[in-house]
Amino acid sequence: MVFHAFFFFISFHFIFFFISFFRRGFFLGSPFILLNYKTYLQGTGHSAVEIAKACRAVSEESGIEIAVAPQLPDIYRVASEVELPVFSQHLDGVGAGSFTGHVFGKCIKDAGAVGTLINHSERRLTLAEIEASLKAAKEFGLRAVICTNNVPTTAAAAALGPDYVAIEPPELIGSGIPVSKADPEVVSGSVEAVAKINPGVKVLCGAGISKGEDLRAALDLGSQGVLLASGIVKAADPRAALEDLISLI
Ligand code: G3P
Repeated sequence: MVFHAFFFFISFHFIFFFISFFRRGFFLGSPFILLNYKTYLQGTGHSAVEIAKACRAVSEESGIEIAVAPQLPDIYRVASEVELPVFSQHLDGVGAGSFTGHVFGKCIKDAGAVGTLINHSERRLTLAEIEASLKAAKEFGLRAVICTNNVPTTAAAAALGPDYVAIEPPELIGSGIPVSKADPEVVSGSVEAVAKINPGVKVLCGAGISKGEDLRAALDLGSQGVLLASGIVKAADPRAALEDLISLI
């Protein structure tokens, strides 16, 4: 009897494993969701904390890692009040010294950030600057997400060795049209390019992602998570929008 119960238990998990495998393609880990607040009014100041609390609640009930990237002056406030990973929207490759108006790695780290975006479409950098920002992120132990706009730039970014690359076709950003459906080739092409160049780098995709089916499609294309903004930050109920986003995982 005990043997039969054990056999049933093992078979069930075996079948579940294969169903998950085929549904998710090559990716079996838990996805990473990074919510960029940009300069949206709905994600500024006190609202930055409220959205972070919604992310924390959904992350806790689902076990999915959800991080937020508020505006720089809100990093300390969010990181102090909510227990969840906080990213910077930008980082400069500067050290301590005469660099007025720059974002210094130690400062955002001390403010509570655990990672940073680099080269977002709305904050483009030169290749040399990307490399310098990445070096600064590594120096201060910050997780680095380099944003890219097509397969060749994704390949170049992966060669630099960040933790993540995030492919976002600029024309789809803020459009409500999900990259995972409108341009699936740019996502699968990026996944393939990164696997060849630097398999240790994880691939996120973004632009127009807001619904459960958009995230599901992104994962099925081999990405390991999403970078998103307007669909959640501007939603009337960000928590409900997040719950919808993860509903098909
Ligand atoms: O950083 C995320 C972003 O650029 C995508 O924006 O509004 O299309 O989700 P959105």
